[in-house]
Amino acid sequence: MTTNPFMKAARFHQYGGADVIRYEDAPVPEVTEDEVLIKVAATSFNPFDAKLRSGAFQAFLPIELPFTPSVNVSGTVVKVGDSVTTFREGDNVFAYLDVTRNGAAAEYVVSKAVHIAHAPKTFDLHESAAVPSVALTAWQALFDYGNLQSGQRVLITAAAGGVGTLAVQLAKWKGAYVIGTASGKSFSMLEQLGIDEIIDYKKQSVAEALKSKVDVIFNLSPAGKEELNSLLQLLNEGGTFISAVSPADENMAKELGVKAVRLNSHPDAEKLTQIAELLDAGLLKPIITERTGLSELAEVHQKFDDGKVSGRVLIIVDGVK
Ligand SMILES: NC(=O)c1ccc[n+]([C@@H]2O[C@H](COP(=O)([O-])OP(=O)(O)OC[C@H]3O[C@@H](n4cnc5c(N)ncnc54)[C@H](OP(=O)(O)O)[C@@H]3O)[C@@H](O)[C@H]2O)c1
Repeated sequence: MTTNPFMKAARFHQYGGADVIRYEDAPVPEVTEDEVLIKVAATSFNPFDAKLRSGAFQAFLPIELPFTPSVNVSGTVVKVGDSVTTFREGDNVFAYLDVTRNGAAAEYVVSKAVHIAHAPKTFDLHESAAVPSVALTAWQALFDYGNLQSGQRVLITAAAGGVGTLAVQLAKWKGAYVIGTASGKSFSMLEQLGIDEIIDYKKQSVAEALKSKVDVIFNLSPAGKEELNSLLQLLNEGGTFISAVSPADENMAKELGVKAVRLNSHPDAEKLTQIAELLDAGLLKPIITERTGLSELAEVHQKFDDGKVSGRVLIIVDGVK
C-alpha cells in the first residue's frame, strides 16, 4: 500500500473536448467498509468515457468534478474495508466500475467489493482490463435479455467493435449461428473469431443480404429509425431485438409479435467471474488494437472524437507497457 497520499490521475475539471483531460496529482481515494482499494495495472478506453467527458450525459448522469474517467480496470487489491470478506490484499481483480464514481484512469481506484471479480488466473492481467464492460454488455444483451440458445440464429450489427467482437465469441460459445455486419477491413478478424456469416454494411442492406430470419438481434450500430424498423422485420415471431444504441419502435415490435428492448449495461461480478473462466479457457479474447500509457489518455480521447479509434485501446497504468 502506498504511503504517499497523492497519485497520478488523468482527470477533467470541466466538461468539454479531449483537452480538458489533465494528467496530474490527485488524492489517493479512501475506502469505506464495503469497498476495496485497487492498485491499477491497466484500464481500457470505452466510447462511454468520452461521451461522459463531453457532458452529453450530464442531465441524467450526475458526476462530481473533478472526475476521473475509465470504467474498466484490472489490478491488485491493496486495501479492503472492514466488512469485505470476499477479497484480500494481494488479490488480482478486474471490474466494470460504477460509471458515476471516479474511474480507473489513475494509479488507484476504489470500488464496492460487490462490483469486482477475481481476475483470470492465466490470462494476462493487463489485457484483462480490455474485457469487463464490453463482455458484460454482450453477455447481458445476448443471454439476460435475448435468452439466446444453442442452435438459434443471432444477428449482431457492428460486430467488429469492442462489444461486437465479444458478442460474436459469446454467441459462438453458446452454440448459436452468428451473423454480423462489418466493413471489409474487419472480415478476416471476425472469421478468426468463428463468425458464420458477415454482411458488409457499406455495400448491402441487411434486409437484402439476410437469407432467413433470426431469433435475436443485438444492435450496436448507429442505425437510424428507418433502419431499426427494417431490422425488426427480420426477427422470427417471438424473437428479441436488443439495442445498445437507439431504441427500436416498441409498438411496431408488438405488431410484429417480437420484443424490443433498450440495453443499459451494468456491473455484474458474478457474470464477470464466469467471463474470467472463459478467458482462462481460451474461449474468449479481447481484440486489442493499441496500447498506450495513462499520461496519453487525452490523446486517446481526441483520436476517438476524430473517429480514429478502432477496436480496444489498452491503457497501461503501472508502467509495464
Ligand atoms: N447501452 C449500453 O449499455 C452500451 C454499452 C456499451 C456500448 N454501447 C454502445 O454500443 C455501440 C458500440 O460500442 P463499441 O464499444 O462496440 O463501439 P466501437 O468499438 O467503437 O465500434 C466500432 C465499430 O462499429 C462498426 N460500425 C460503424 N458504423 C457501422 C454501421 N453503420 N454498421 C455496422 N457497423 C458499424 C465499425 O465496424 P468496421 O470496423 O467493420 O467498419 C467499428 O469496428 C456504441 O454506440 C456504444 O456507445 C452501449
